[in-house]
This record gives sequence, C-alpha cells and structure tokens, in this order.
Amino acid sequence: SDNWILAAELADLPEDDVIGIDVNGHDIALYRTEDGVFASANLCSHGNARLSDGFLEDGEIECPLHQGRFCIKTGKAMCSPLTEGIATYPVQIEGEQVYLKFA
Ligand code: FES
Repeated sequence: SDNWILAAELADLPEDDVIGIDVNGHDIALYRTEDGVFASANLCSHGNARLSDGFLEDGEIECPLHQGRFCIKTGKAMCSPLTEGIATYPVQIEGEQVYLKFA
C-alpha cells in the first residue's frame, strides 16, 4: 500500500543483531531475530544514546549508556532507569525487501 517505505534489503540485516539506519529522516533501529524483523526508534528514551550501539538479547535491546532494556516488539521499557518506552513501527517483508510504515 502507499504508506510502506523501503527501509533495507533483508540481506543487509545480520541475524540476531541490530543496525541503525535513516529511513526518510527517521533514525531507526532495525532488528533481525528468529522471531522476525522489528523496527523501533533508535534514540533511547532516557538519554542521548543510540540503541543500535547496544546489545540485543532475548527480544530486548539494551541501551549502551545505562543498560536500560526495551522490548523490541512493543517498545516497552523493561527495567530502570527507563521510565518511558520508545516508538515501534510495523514491518513488512516483500521478497528480499524490508518495508516500514510510519503513522
Ligand atoms: Fe539509555 Fe540511559 S540513555 S538507559
């Protein structure tokens, strides 16, 4: 449909890892896990850190600055010092291409 934006090629996404990419001016963290591909805002809700520089494990991304963790599917803050979640975005895979949708 019209609002889906091409973000990446599937081949560019390392397995069980996260990359940071610019998609139409949005700083996005793009995650690839055995459960699929997920996208969130890349800026931590707690400070000036990029989640794509963090550590992905068990469906959560750990911020590199103070080790706050977010659920990559929902954006929910999972532990202190986080008090706010982050935005997540719908992902659609078509063939080898990864599309995102922004509200
Ligand atoms: Fe991310 Fe503090 S900046 S946990």
